[in-house]
Amino acid sequence: MIKLHDKYFKKFISQEQIQEAVAKMAMEIAKDVKEEQPIFVGILNGVFMFFADFMKVYNYPCEMTFVKLSSYHGTSSSGEIKELIGLSQDIEGRTVIVLEDIIDTGNTLDELHAIFKAKKVKDFKIGTLFFKPEAYQKQHKIDYIGMEIPNEFIVGYGLDYDELGRNLPEVYQLHTNNMINLILFGKPGAGKGTQANFLKEKYNLVHISTGDVFRYNIKNGTELGVLAKSYIDKGDLVPDEVTINMLQAEVEKNPEANGFIFDGFPRTTAQAEALDNFLTTKDMGISATIALEADDEILIQRLLERGKVSGRADDQDEAKIRNRFDEYNQKTAPLIDFYKKQNKFHSVNGIGTIEEITVRLSSVIDEL
Ligand code: AP5
Ligand code: MG
Repeated sequence: MIKLHDKYFKKFISQEQIQEAVAKMAMEIAKDVKEEQPIFVGILNGVFMFFADFMKVYNYPCEMTFVKLSSYHGTSSSGEIKELIGLSQDIEGRTVIVLEDIIDTGNTLDELHAIFKAKKVKDFKIGTLFFKPEAYQKQHKIDYIGMEIPNEFIVGYGLDYDELGRNLPEVYQLHTNNMINLILFGKPGAGKGTQANFLKEKYNLVHISTGDVFRYNIKNGTELGVLAKSYIDKGDLVPDEVTINMLQAEVEKNPEANGFIFDGFPRTTAQAEALDNFLTTKDMGISATIALEADDEILIQRLLERGKVSGRADDQDEAKIRNRFDEYNQKTAPLIDFYKKQNKFHSVNGIGTIEEITVRLSSVIDEL
C-alpha cells in the first residue's frame, strides 16, 4: 500500500502485465501500419512512460510527437477539456496514431477526431494502453486497446493523482477502505479471546489480544515481558504508554490485513483516544465495539476453572480476579460511553454456548 496526498493505493497491475500489453499493441499496430511510416502522437502527460516503452518494442520506421490535452482534476473525469497544444508538424496526408495512457469516459475523443480530421490526415487511429469499458460514453471505435480494466481510479506508470504517482513503475488502484475493525469488549473471562478465534476465521481478520502479546513476552523473558509481569500477576493494568506502543507495533506488522479484532484493547480512555488517532493516520477506523455481557460470579467460575490448567497467575486467586474486575469497572467501563457517543457500541449476551454467542456477534457484524 502506498499513500499519495491523502489517499491510499494498492498494487493492481504489475510491470510484467504492462509490458505484455504494450508488446501486444506494438505488434497489432505494426501489422496494420508499418508500411506507412506513421506519426505517433502521444497525449501528455500521462502517456510518457507507455510511449517510451511502446517505442522500444515498435521496431519500424516512424515519427513521433507529443501534444497536451488535459482533462483530469482529482479522481474523477471532470468533463472539462482544454485545447490541444504542441502539434507543430505538418501531418496532412499522413497516417496518424494517437496514443493515450487511458481512456475512460472518452470525453477527449470528439475533440481529437475533429482536430485530426481538420488537418486532413490520411488515416487516423487511436490506441490506448488502458481502457475502462464501464465508463466509456462515446461511439468512436478505439482501434487498439492494451488492457481493459474495471472502472477504478488508477495511478502509476505515467498516471497521476493530482500530479503524484506518475513515476511508479507499476499501476496502483485506489484503496477504498472497507476494512472491518472490531473491538471485542468485556470483563475478564467474558469470552473475548474465545470468540475472536472464530470471528477472525469467519471474517478474515487479524486478532490482536494485548493480554496474549504480554504473555508471549513474559514467556520469552523480554524487557517488555518483565515489566508487564509485575502488573499482570497482580491483576493491575499495564501502563498506557507501554500498551499503546505495543498495540501500534502489532498493527504495523500486518499492513495487508482486511481488518483487526482488538481484544483487551483499549482498556482506558487514553488508550481509546490513542487508538482513534493512530487509526486515522492509517486511513482506518473502528467499525464497532461489541461487548460480551456476563455476571461476575459466572466469570469468576470460568477463570478459576481455567486457572487450574492455564498457569496464569491472575486466574488462580479470586482476590486477583476481583481486582481485575475493579480495574475494569474503574478504568475500562467508561469506554462504553466513549463508544456510545460515536454510535459504535453494541452489546450481546455472553452467556450461552460458544456457538450461540458467535452467532449473536456475527449478526451484529453482518449489519455493519
Ligand atoms: P487479558 O489477557 O486481556 O485478560 P482479561 O481481559 O482479563 O480476560 P481473559 O483473556 O482472561 O478473558 P476473555 O474475555 O478473553 O475470555 P476467554 O475467551 O479467555 O489481560 C490480562 C492482563 O494483561 C490484564 O489484567 C492486564 O494486566 C494486561 N493487559 C492486557 N491488555 C491491557 C491493556 N489494554 N492495558 C493495560 N493492561 C493490559 O474465556 C475465559 C474462560 O471462559 C476460558 O476458559 C474459556 O474457555 C471460557 N469460556 C469462554 N466462553 C465461554 C462460554 N460461552 N461458556 C463457558 N465458558 C466459556
Ligand atoms: Mg483473553
